[in-house]
Amino acid sequence: MNKRSVRSLDMSGLVGQRALVRVDYNVPLEEGGRVADAARIEATLPTLRLLLGAGIRPILLSHLGRPGGRIVPEESLRPVAAVLQELLGTPVHFLASTDTDLALETSLGLPEGELLLLENTRFLPGETTNDEALGARLARMGDFYVNDAFGTTHRAHASVVGAPAHLKPAVAGLLVEAELDALERVRSAPDRPFVVAFGGAKIRDKIQLMEAFLASAETILIGGAMANTFLAGMGRPVGESLVEYDAVEVAADFLARAPERLVLPADLVVGVPGRDSNDSRIVPADAIPDGMAAYDIGPQARERFSDTIARAGTFFWNGPMGWFEAAGYAEGTRAVARAAVAAAESGAFAVVGGGDSARAIREAGLADRVSHVSTGGGASLEYLAHGTLPGLEALDDT
Ligand code: 3PG
Repeated sequence: MNKRSVRSLDMSGLVGQRALVRVDYNVPLEEGGRVADAARIEATLPTLRLLLGAGIRPILLSHLGRPGGRIVPEESLRPVAAVLQELLGTPVHFLASTDTDLALETSLGLPEGELLLLENTRFLPGETTNDEALGARLARMGDFYVNDAFGTTHRAHASVVGAPAHLKPAVAGLLVEAELDALERVRSAPDRPFVVAFGGAKIRDKIQLMEAFLASAETILIGGAMANTFLAGMGRPVGESLVEYDAVEVAADFLARAPERLVLPADLVVGVPGRDSNDSRIVPADAIPDGMAAYDIGPQARERFSDTIARAGTFFWNGPMGWFEAAGYAEGTRAVARAAVAAAESGAFAVVGGGDSARAIREAGLADRVSHVSTGGGASLEYLAHGTLPGLEALDDT
């Protein structure tokens, strides 16, 4: 990493200072506002402990959801503050206000050994448009800047690129550092064979990354709704399956360019559209019946994908293999999660991109048995495609 890390700071000179720490606490909330998955909060604990241990006062900024520059009470960070306090065992103050003058005053009065979490940055007009004045106002809340919000580092927003322009030093936190170490190894020095599994619905979000992987990976396995778009590109019947029709041509072009390296499922599990039911059946991938929708890869595909993954030197996975939230269609995604573990246990470097695939491997209880599970969905894909991110550019060089 050519960006300065929080570990490089001379902490003795920073005692009592306020670190403005951008974190990504964009976590799923259950009904009643409870945090449904605290992984992104847990992932920031090492940086926060490092700062607290050095007598530095952390002032935390995060967004939650997409409130669009206005106050949406259901997207308040208050429930996150309670979880963070419990995980850290340290008082976490929460400022339920978007008044940046009050936030400045509160940050200055924060006692050592405690933290302050400010309200959702996306309640502020100007956050997502990177308003210059807002970046400067946010910067007043800290004496120096730490980015530990890997999942948001692809967003050129005021709290990610605006604020650090006004603060020195501006450094990467331990989570960002760990993410970059893992993703850079996948991007530029994969052990062979390098195997990728893509799923999820959208090809459009992954076009640039697929281009990059066509040049670097031996095998790209395609599952999930993405596979339907490829099948449509081959002129196969897709029934009622979810297809990204404006990406059919792109899919056909990828297939034409690398037919031997792109592997589609040989069979699929299909069912009645929208129903997680027991009337599902297994069909060859070129024979999705009229009126039915493909919701998972089939047993032959599971075996082929699992064998290929288990023999990888490097494995990268992004996107579920089907409608994994439905019990009847989760097996393909689970098989890929198990194969990632098998690969890691036989010495491969196995990385799970964020988003739904990260959730799936955590729900399967296998997240700590692979080499790395990214906390960033879009951020990890963008980093792998481009080798940098806007929020990294805003940090000090080493
Ligand atoms: C994410 O969950 O991917 C990040 O927190 C970024 O959120 P966004 O896609 O709303 O910018």
